[in-house]
Amino acid sequence: MSVAVITGAGGGLGKAYATFFASRGAKVVVNDLGGSFKGEGNSTKAADVVVNEIKAAGGEAVANYDSVADGDKIIETAIKAFGRIDILINNAGILRDVSFKNMTDADWDLIMTVHVKGAYKCARAAWPYFRKQKYGRIINTASAAGLFGNFGQANYSAAKLAMVGFTETLAKEGAKYNIVCNVIAPIAASRMTETVMPPEILENLKPDWVVPLVAVLVHKDNTSENGSIFEAGGGHVAKFRWERSSGLLLKADESYTASAIIKQWSKVSDFSNPQYPSGVNDFVGLLEESMKLGPSPQGEKIDFTGRVALVT
Ligand code: NAI
Repeated sequence: MSVAVITGAGGGLGKAYATFFASRGAKVVVNDLGGSFKGEGNSTKAADVVVNEIKAAGGEAVANYDSVADGDKIIETAIKAFGRIDILINNAGILRDVSFKNMTDADWDLIMTVHVKGAYKCARAAWPYFRKQKYGRIINTASAAGLFGNFGQANYSAAKLAMVGFTETLAKEGAKYNIVCNVIAPIAASRMTETVMPPEILENLKPDWVVPLVAVLVHKDNTSENGSIFEAGGGHVAKFRWERSSGLLLKADESYTASAIIKQWSKVSDFSNPQYPSGVNDFVGLLEESMKLGPSPQGEKIDFTGRVALVT
């Protein structure tokens, strides 16, 4: 028997995960604060509707109406109702889209609270259970906006890319306890996207089409995909990874100047021989190599006397 906690499961993607897991025999905590997509208000209705739907179909579920900012209470609901937790899907989310020029501290803070603190609080409360039972599966939810940036979403983009670093660290710390953590950047029709995409595209972006990837990643048999980043939606699944140019290596001495870098700038951004780093360790080798090099050839000295700083 598996117990799954799904945050923001009163609608959209969260509802699709909740009904799927329940249909496959998991006991589900359906968490939802029940507010607007901008994070205003709250209601018990969103979670209740999904719980009733699951029960009507013969599944087992309980509702939780707390904000993910109080994630410990959500995990407590799982422990009280079902005695354990196996799967955590950090899915709850809101938007506060506004140009950066007009962004207020409140726009920034609320997005950080729901997405970053919310994912942290839920994972932190689940962690001791996962470690003790040497088993846990976590999905965090990023976004294309986090990977690439998007107009009007400086707050949301920052919060969503935070999910990548968070996931990569939990994956590293959890591996020896069979705690597997991955992050997805979904794309699906929901109240969040219904105003920004045309209906004919939305028709092909059912939240249900994100569920299969999540099912694969949180399955007990998945131990190899850990700390990975995926894009999923509309029948498409793809993996992301970091790519680094082989780069420019100069001697780290007085000859390591701005003009020396500019002189060979093309090497910095030459991706013809890329590397795919997954940790910081390989950097040590570069330091050793740098020490063996001779002084760097200099270009023209740059100065800051004018408005444009870099002149070669
Ligand atoms: P949605 O608005 O349908 O679902 C989000 C749910 O989270 C709502 O039911 C809402 O009431 C709940 N929620 C909001 N704040 C909460 C809080 N503090 N505590 C508990 N529940 C809360 O949106 P959708 O599209 O299903 O989004 C799910 C996740 O996927 C979000 O994290 C979103 O940022 C992310 N995402 C969605 C994309 C899409 O194409 N739909 C694209 C990229 C990311």
